[in-house]
Amino acid sequence: MCGIVGYVGPNSSGRALEVVMDGLTRLEYRGYDSAGVALVGGSEVVGAKRAGKLSNLTKALAEQPLPETTTAIGHTRWATHGGPTDENAHPHRGGTDRKLALVHNGIIENFHSLRKQLIADGVVFSSETDTEVVAHLVSRAFAGTGDLTAAMREVVNTLHGAFTLLAVHSDQPDVVVGARRNSPLVVGLGEGENFLGSDVAAFIGYTRRALELGQDQIVTITPEGYTVIDFDGTPSDGKAYEVTWDAAAAEKGGFDTFMEKEIHEQPHAVADTLLGRTDETGLLVLDEMGLTEEDLRAIDKMVIVACGTAAYAGMVAKYAIERWARIPVEVELAHEFRYRDPVIDEKTLVVSISQSGETMDTLMAVRHAKELGARTISICNTHGSTIPRESDGVLYTHAGPEIAVASTKAFLAQITASYILGLYLVQVRRDQREGVAEVMSELQRIPEKIQELLGSMDRVKEIARFMADTRAVLFLGRHVGFPVAMEGALKLKELAYIHAEGFAAGELKHGPIALIEPGQPVFVVVPSPDSEHGLHGKVVSNIQEIRARGARTLVIAEEGDEDVEPFADEVIRVPRTSALLAPLLTVVPLQVFALELSTAKGLDVDQPRNLAKSVTVE
Ligand code: G6P
Repeated sequence: MCGIVGYVGPNSSGRALEVVMDGLTRLEYRGYDSAGVALVGGSEVVGAKRAGKLSNLTKALAEQPLPETTTAIGHTRWATHGGPTDENAHPHRGGTDRKLALVHNGIIENFHSLRKQLIADGVVFSSETDTEVVAHLVSRAFAGTGDLTAAMREVVNTLHGAFTLLAVHSDQPDVVVGARRNSPLVVGLGEGENFLGSDVAAFIGYTRRALELGQDQIVTITPEGYTVIDFDGTPSDGKAYEVTWDAAAAEKGGFDTFMEKEIHEQPHAVADTLLGRTDETGLLVLDEMGLTEEDLRAIDKMVIVACGTAAYAGMVAKYAIERWARIPVEVELAHEFRYRDPVIDEKTLVVSISQSGETMDTLMAVRHAKELGARTISICNTHGSTIPRESDGVLYTHAGPEIAVASTKAFLAQITASYILGLYLVQVRRDQREGVAEVMSELQRIPEKIQELLGSMDRVKEIARFMADTRAVLFLGRHVGFPVAMEGALKLKELAYIHAEGFAAGELKHGPIALIEPGQPVFVVVPSPDSEHGLHGKVVSNIQEIRARGARTLVIAEEGDEDVEPFADEVIRVPRTSALLAPLLTVVPLQVFALELSTAKGLDVDQPRNLAKSVTVE
């Protein structure tokens, strides 16, 4: 969602603007619809803000004289209060003297009453945003205190909601002040310069030394250093750490799009997520589990909460964890879970899955689960993000930064991490080491198989290019193939704006079969011929049923599965693996298909319309 950058450093030619624009470019992946910067120069703050892409902002900045300055803030906005216009873009000014500028990520829930009060006091607003309210409040507080940190502290204590705020004031030209509640903010520590960002990507090109801020904290950066205080004024140290992601990882690495690069990084994403999970005796060791073995033995139910692609990873997890660990597992969209009065208690383990660790719906579900006394574990790709920090334990996926809005490698890493969690529960609760070792060794072979699969995608790409004019595509799957079908449909909706639906193959006869007409393309994810309960045969029958009604059948089947041949218009082969692990392979052709079709239609693969990478509002 919104991207935020702050910088303060030496007074060298154009550096502050360069750093902030570079940071905004690196944060583009979060999704945005307008952008702006503010530079502290002389007696006032100057800058520009524009609706649309960063190129509009660059153009606007080139049209005006800009001061040599040490200090700047920047913002990419994803509209919440007020449409994506120049006026609503950040930074916002407070007061009438052009001395203060402020940017914001999140939502101020009590902004209506604050705005009403300010209007009654004679303040004139130039935007519809909740942010401008805060800018005026901080400007007023500064008039009283003469200190930006103190002014920020005074104001944040009156705000409700979720926010990251950065402010600059021309009376304190070498200072940027940031504050965070429920929204992300990281400090980058340089030599004679310091940075603030919504995430480390904002400053990764300049420093690897970072500082994690806690909830409800204010940070003040100057060229020489930083201070952190809690909202109540208590000094704090923050937690310094080294960023292990390198700058190249945040760039496209030779591929045309981030998504293509990320699809090709999937073997690594799975391998790295498996790395270091066992000790020398082969026992699973989860360092940041946060719950004792006794705690885990006391659990009588699991609930997985997540949104979007992560929720489909959760559906795969349900099949595996119930099968292996014999614990009932519910999977629920986080936004539905939160508001339906779920029956959970201290014997429930609530597992959240989130790439970003900042999805507000998921965060709220975790908080609700905690209020009800549940134990909480987060499966997350972003270190130090809010959801893992607020959970009892965490199992980090190691997919590396995922920049494309549509999730790919994080999905595979999430599934891998859920398998590890399921196997850990088997180890702790059922004391079965052999079964665990067997699945782990099959998992170790998956990265190589994904690599092999990625090398055989030419036909899938060809099919996609031929289908650029297709209006609707259906996806069928059964057992773990069902969430894969849903994910395949989601990818196509997100990337190619094509109407796509994923169905459980068994449900076909109860309604969706009415959609089949001559030429209708249908992807079918076929279970392994070794699947239990004759599932393979049942799905092969489904293919026959839709083929008989004219469907064009695009069948994803294991190598060596000859039964599908007579009924498939196209067979897309995936390497063999055990039935429960198959999603790590079967989803790959569907990702490639959506990517290629989107490219064939000339669409923006990495930043599809209307979508945000990390949705930090409910
Ligand atoms: C947004 C993204 C999706 C993602 C979902 C959950 O909607 O566009 O790609 O799956 O959020 O994100 P999370 O960071 O919680 O995994």
